[in-house]
Amino acid sequence: MKNYNISLIKGDGIGVEIVDEAVKVLDAVGKKFDINFDYKEYLMGGCAIDATGNPLPQETIDGVLNSDACLFGAIGGPKWDNQPRELRPESGLLKFRKEMGVFANLRPAIVYDELVDASSLKPEVIKGVDIMVVRELIGGIYFGEPKGKTETKGWNTMVYEVYEIERIAHVAFKLAMKRDKKLCSIDKANVLDVSQLWRETVEKIAVEYPEVKLSHMYVDNCAMQLIANPKQFDVILTGNIFGDILSDEASMLSGSIGLLPSASTGEKTAVYEPIHGSAPDITGMGIANPIATISSASMMLRYSLNEEEAADAIDIAIKKAMSEGYRTKDLAAFDAKEVVTTTQMGDIITSYLK
Ligand code: IPM
Ligand code: MG
Repeated sequence: MKNYNISLIKGDGIGVEIVDEAVKVLDAVGKKFDINFDYKEYLMGGCAIDATGNPLPQETIDGVLNSDACLFGAIGGPKWDNQPRELRPESGLLKFRKEMGVFANLRPAIVYDELVDASSLKPEVIKGVDIMVVRELIGGIYFGEPKGKTETKGWNTMVYEVYEIERIAHVAFKLAMKRDKKLCSIDKANVLDVSQLWRETVEKIAVEYPEVKLSHMYVDNCAMQLIANPKQFDVILTGNIFGDILSDEASMLSGSIGLLPSASTGEKTAVYEPIHGSAPDITGMGIANPIATISSASMMLRYSLNEEEAADAIDIAIKKAMSEGYRTKDLAAFDAKEVVTTTQMGDIITSYLK
């Protein structure tokens, strides 16, 4: 029997409920494919502030670095919004990404056929959309120096070094090779020097991937094209802040933020998490959609543990739950046969894995 050490960070708000469902599904798929998962839980975000005064305790950093992969729920909430910036849950998250060295953030935007009506866009525009946004996660304006704030002035610096652009470009080209071999790199090279370097560097890396069709697009145009004609995109490669914005936009093509997973990978370890937040407004009500987290567990099996078969089994089980008409409340309006709770959705997906 194979054994993997999985670190769990449930976090705040609905994080706890949705990670519990993903663990249930992992255990079921483990039974089916003879895989054992050893879980260890770590604190981060608001719950860590409450317990230790620090949004990212050292124990969490060490524990996750020593695990095979990390499954992450969500962090933050109004309770911690008025803390000084260093003590906010978000600061813990950014430090965590940096410490883990997870420079590549993969955010798929997939439209499930059963849910084409859930999008605010016309079905013919979004049916068949399958985009992978590759966002650089530990550089750019989020981390650049100098930065600061006085009474009358605030400033941040968008900076990228060639090695940072090269390594994320390789990730994107490799993914494109496994998909439709189309890569669109997003920048603002008409205005920003940092973007000009980005574009030149991506061009250089492209030579190593002659089969991939590379194009470039300005970020403002990309924001428009994602709505006008999203099917033109296969892999989108972009820096930290543009990727933050564009991945939120792309996620909405699918209609529900409760469906989409993400992977953050690098040289040391990898972190898998739903793209949505901790949703304090619905915490504890049993209505959160656990699918984004279950789907993140599937990405973990596929990309970190090389358990492709098990990952496929989870993806098939999720699709089956959709096509059978089971919906959590967020998607109740779209061809629901039965509206189910968070736990029931976990149970239904688990039952398809037996
Ligand atoms: C995300 C979030 C984070 C980010 C915040 C919570 C710091 O918006 O993961 O996209 O901006 O990266
Ligand atoms: Mg964001």
